[in-house]
Amino acid sequence: MKFPFHTVARGWKTFHRFQQKGVLSEDQRLWSSALKCSRSSSQLCKEKCFYITTPIFYVNAAPHLGHLYSAVIADCLHRWKLLQGFESRFATGTDEHGLKIQQAAEAAGKDPLTFCTEVSQRFETLFSSCSVSFTDYIRTTEQRHRRAVEHFWSVLWNKGLIYKGSYEGWYSTQDESFLTPSQVSDALDPSGKEVKVSLESGHKVEWMKEENYMFRLSSFRSLLLDWLVKNPSAVQPERFHQAVLQWLQEDLPDLSVSRQRSRLQWGIPVPGDPEQTIYVWLDALVNYLTVVGYPEEHERWWHVAHHVIGKDILKFHAIYWPAFLLGAGLPLPQVIHVHSHWTVGGKKMSKSLGNVVDPFEHSQMFTNDGMRYFLLRQGVPDTDCDYTHDKVLKLLNAELADSLGGLLNRCTAPALNPAQVYPAFCSHSFPRDRRGRAVEEDYHMVETVRSLSTVVEKHYESMQVYKALEAISACVRQTNGFIQRHTPWKLDRRDSKDGRWLDTIIHLTLECLRVYGTLLQPVVPEISDRLLTRLGVQSQERSWKDLDFLGRYFGTDCSFEGRPLGSNCGLLFSRLETQSGDKQKTMKSKKPAQ
Ligand code: MSP
Repeated sequence: MKFPFHTVARGWKTFHRFQQKGVLSEDQRLWSSALKCSRSSSQLCKEKCFYITTPIFYVNAAPHLGHLYSAVIADCLHRWKLLQGFESRFATGTDEHGLKIQQAAEAAGKDPLTFCTEVSQRFETLFSSCSVSFTDYIRTTEQRHRRAVEHFWSVLWNKGLIYKGSYEGWYSTQDESFLTPSQVSDALDPSGKEVKVSLESGHKVEWMKEENYMFRLSSFRSLLLDWLVKNPSAVQPERFHQAVLQWLQEDLPDLSVSRQRSRLQWGIPVPGDPEQTIYVWLDALVNYLTVVGYPEEHERWWHVAHHVIGKDILKFHAIYWPAFLLGAGLPLPQVIHVHSHWTVGGKKMSKSLGNVVDPFEHSQMFTNDGMRYFLLRQGVPDTDCDYTHDKVLKLLNAELADSLGGLLNRCTAPALNPAQVYPAFCSHSFPRDRRGRAVEEDYHMVETVRSLSTVVEKHYESMQVYKALEAISACVRQTNGFIQRHTPWKLDRRDSKDGRWLDTIIHLTLECLRVYGTLLQPVVPEISDRLLTRLGVQSQERSWKDLDFLGRYFGTDCSFEGRPLGSNCGLLFSRLETQSGDKQKTMKSKKPAQ
């Protein structure tokens, strides 16, 4: 194999002897067009389509709650887009190559593929059981992925962006990451031995010196800066966008993109050089392209790519990946949505600390939707959040069982709604001129619920799901307050005025519930389904365009008025009760109000 440039890289100091005048300027043109392409992607994709991905998960250990969190966020965004009438693709899967996996398989005494298959299936089972509705599941050991990676590599190689050199420096196998001396510090391992660790992750690092292939990352610094400055929403939330800009102010050395085969066998060989294995991060990142058909037809979906990632893998997604893509002449992702971490007792979950939360066990304990609701309601993308049983229990009981469930029970209970219908709204009882029985707070509630969809849209779009849920929850509380204020159970149906007012109270409450049920679908699909089914809302009436809140008050029609309620599927969410101190169990359902 011929190398276009003779280059020697030592540690983070790379010395090139380019014979390439003019080469980069031609490529610059290509990269600029890739940048433009990514900017105008929304124009290119005329149809409403959306492509969302999770990181692909390492199979060296069983899934934990943090993994489920990444997947549930992406699922929520996918469902949200479907609700809005988009055609959406949602990819997840497993990252199966690399030294870490090779060592884990060895330790388990299994051949690597068998080992990977077993753990990959556990991820798939977890996601399916938690209603993570992925449309594509990718494993990096699949043949279609190998083809995509080999092609991607050849494109970079043919453009002279990969060269043979040598790397000398720190490497963390746990993070599969190269580190500069300033990113490393001294520490003691559990046996008291002095070791070097990564400042960011705390994982052990080793000195490594070997011949391998380098990617011209340093050439992309200004293009990356340009992309980030011109696309302020490319990395969200803002603090992570700023972090990437900050990193780009520092030295950006070329990147080692292969390992010697003698050290790493479990990976894709470098095309044309069987002595080298492709760096696991380059291999893994290409999964996003593999899913949409790369190197064949992939444009339609690639133009609308969104990535959900945890903050620990920001550098790989916001620096390496865009640089690879620019190099390959491909558009950049539209948004990289970053989330923070779940901690337990203030520490990041880790097997060695023994504080890992098992997502199977906990979603059984709190139900799948309960777990989803908690993660999305309490998870704040900007900051880490601590996980405790007690918090889960209190939140779910307060917001799902008591507040939302209680509200549904109240207005569907046969005592209050004997005909089991969506009753008529009376505009004399609740007139726009405020001369009926409704009071000022009721009007305020109607306006708040009317604007709720706009508020929720803004927060779902920016992955601030907790804010959307906060807004919905505040509205649910207001609606409970509305019922409480007017004590409909004290009204006498035999009196025609009281009867109309009673029906109006129930109509309005059911309308509110219909809005909450529709907006909650991306977060708690099973609970929303139960709620909307109980209200008699058909599956084709549950989309964004069907929201149309309280038409009878705002001067349009209400197609639900007079309809029978749907079947009673039991409690919306059963209260969870503490048993013997810290141990919580899902309790047997209390009977819904009759
Ligand atoms: N394999 C890489 C990703 C390659 S993507 C091309 C990887 N895998 S991982 O299994 O370690 O992590 C997957 C995701 O789980 C990351 O987004 C990571 O941030 C997330 N989490 C891991 N621990 C977490 C918490 N404690 N809390 C929240 N999310 C966490 O990195």
